[in-house]
Amino acid sequence: MAGKIVVAGSLNMDLVGCASRLPVPGETLIGHQFFQAPGGKGANQAYAAAKLGARVAMIGRVGADDFGRRLRSNLAEAGCDVSGVAALPSTSTGVALIFVADSGENSILIVPGANGRFSPDDVASAAGHFEGAVMVMLQLETPLETVVAAARAARQEGAQVMLDPAPARPLPDELLRLTDILTPNETEAAILCGLPPGRLDPARAAAIGQELRGRGSEVVIIKLGEQGSVVVGGGEPRLLPAPRVTAIDTTAAGDVFNAALAVGLSEGRDLEAACRFAHRAASLSVTRLGAQSAAPTRAEVDRWDYRVH
Ligand code: ATP
Ligand code: RIB
Repeated sequence: MAGKIVVAGSLNMDLVGCASRLPVPGETLIGHQFFQAPGGKGANQAYAAAKLGARVAMIGRVGADDFGRRLRSNLAEAGCDVSGVAALPSTSTGVALIFVADSGENSILIVPGANGRFSPDDVASAAGHFEGAVMVMLQLETPLETVVAAARAARQEGAQVMLDPAPARPLPDELLRLTDILTPNETEAAILCGLPPGRLDPARAAAIGQELRGRGSEVVIIKLGEQGSVVVGGGEPRLLPAPRVTAIDTTAAGDVFNAALAVGLSEGRDLEAACRFAHRAASLSVTRLGAQSAAPTRAEVDRWDYRVH
């Protein structure tokens, strides 16, 4: 049986407004759809991994409110162990205000709430959850010292650490040295290297990936949206193409990618096979609206017939 995956990170309620395009600063735009849906990078990764059949435990914090209860129960319904997700009194659950354009593009404002109070002590008190884990998945929507504490706890248990350095910010080399697999998108990769954000061609992505490997992470996978990903580590840098789809909403595509990558690796696939599985799951997710609501089941990924870019 595949090994256990632990996700330490954020849970948000996503409040999503859809419009023909994204509003510009100062503009009021009339939208055509609104919905609430469970989100947060940590919870999205946990949920998507569980939908793909993995044994998953989530560690994090919500507020003692309706959003928090709904986020916990949504994860539990997918089969995640949520005993490490506690509700904090007098704190609101994290929310994300998301605009989605008809092109599939989005822009997101996060108000962390309880995620901002998820502390290194909380990680220490969840030590039992790390026992027997093969992979610990981390992101950057909780305090950095908590992310570092979770990476240390993972290493102590002999688990691999997969860090999604999102939202983008510079990181200390200590965290990169604690990371086995680093998965920035092109903006995050540039910011980690102190470069201006912008689109990367595969050759430039490979060079940035090499630089990041030099700072500690064994493998760097740079996610390039519809282009696919550049894998740096375990051989020559290579571009893996993404399936060709019509994107409806790319929110959480990166989370689904990471979840499927962790599931593939936890089942014993090699890096390249796990990445190809991750592309199938992520590209399928962008054909649907929402974050967790877009995560595909294992059967959907396995039977999907697609063309690559
Ligand atoms: P997000 O921040 O939106 O969650 P990300 O920026 O971390 O995502 P991306 O590189 O945009 O990550 O997407 C991850 C994966 O999702 C891609 O490697 C690809 O498989 C799939 N994907 C994203 N956008 C598209 C698209 N327009 N067409 C096909 N696949 C896509
Ligand atoms: O990665 C997508 C997620 O980013 C959304 O679900 C939103 O909650 C923000 O955290």
